[in-house]
Amino acid sequence: MNIFVTQLIPQSGLEILRRAYPGFRINSEERVLGRGELLECVKGADGLLALLTDRIDAEVLDAAGAQLKIVANMAVGYDNVDLEAATRRGIMVTNTPGVLTDATADHAWALLFSIARRVPESERYLRAGKFKGWGPLLFLGGAVTGRTLGIVGAGRIGSAVAMKSRGFNMRVLYTARSPKPRLEAETGARRVELEELLRESDFVSLHVPLAPDTVHLIHAGSLRLMKPTAYLINTGRGPLVDEAALADGLRSGVIAGAALDVFEREPAVHAELLKLENVVLTPHTASATIESRSKMSTMAAENLIAGLAGQRPPNLLNP
Ligand code: GLV
Repeated sequence: MNIFVTQLIPQSGLEILRRAYPGFRINSEERVLGRGELLECVKGADGLLALLTDRIDAEVLDAAGAQLKIVANMAVGYDNVDLEAATRRGIMVTNTPGVLTDATADHAWALLFSIARRVPESERYLRAGKFKGWGPLLFLGGAVTGRTLGIVGAGRIGSAVAMKSRGFNMRVLYTARSPKPRLEAETGARRVELEELLRESDFVSLHVPLAPDTVHLIHAGSLRLMKPTAYLINTGRGPLVDEAALADGLRSGVIAGAALDVFEREPAVHAELLKLENVVLTPHTASATIESRSKMSTMAAENLIAGLAGQRPPNLLNP
């Protein structure tokens, strides 16, 4: 079997692959392959272990060749893979759900507190030697306990973020295609339309998958619905938010702040966002715990091996 892994991933998955296919190929550098390199490297592969930074479209699938059987994506999101093009060619696609739920939800909370309590901004201030003593007006931020949390997309990760709010005694609103009785029972959450969620929430956290109908789900108009004291948190996908509109909104005080782990054109970040203090930015690291990335690596390898062995991979997206 000809296996190609597009970038260095945690050892756990590589060991599993090594046992099954000692001759597997890997881009062993910590960098995303250029388009030309990717098209070249996938040639002849029966199985691809890909990352969310690889655009796996019809061109890549065709460059691999007709023998390609499976693309195992090491991510829960799979907007980087053209699922329809793969399905048309009879190629299996898998993802890694579940094992990064808590890590990602924890990071959403890290971002929420960072922006509300201005942690990175005040740390920059302190390190710059500007701290001259306690001040009654120094770095006043927004309260978290008792406020309203709006979860846009109460799937696995969104629900986990909501569950973790219990310690902060928050009112929870959520959007979802179907009601979530367990979430409602355990947190008192109420399912509402997006518009009501935006109007009512002090913190709006995004957890819907990226799809044609969720691109720019948050645009200038949605920001205007939010309270001027509210914060936006995005650990989903960058294009859910119109970054230019967000930068405008943050600059002019339409909302109080934003904390983003994902960006419209990664690794680029909108130049205006970089200039603002009322935004916290992390480099798409929400799932980046040692434990979670190790499990994602294992899961992707196991999906790949199962698919190539003619079994149904545990996390098959296109049965
Ligand atoms: C990370 O962004 C993932 O989708 O796993």
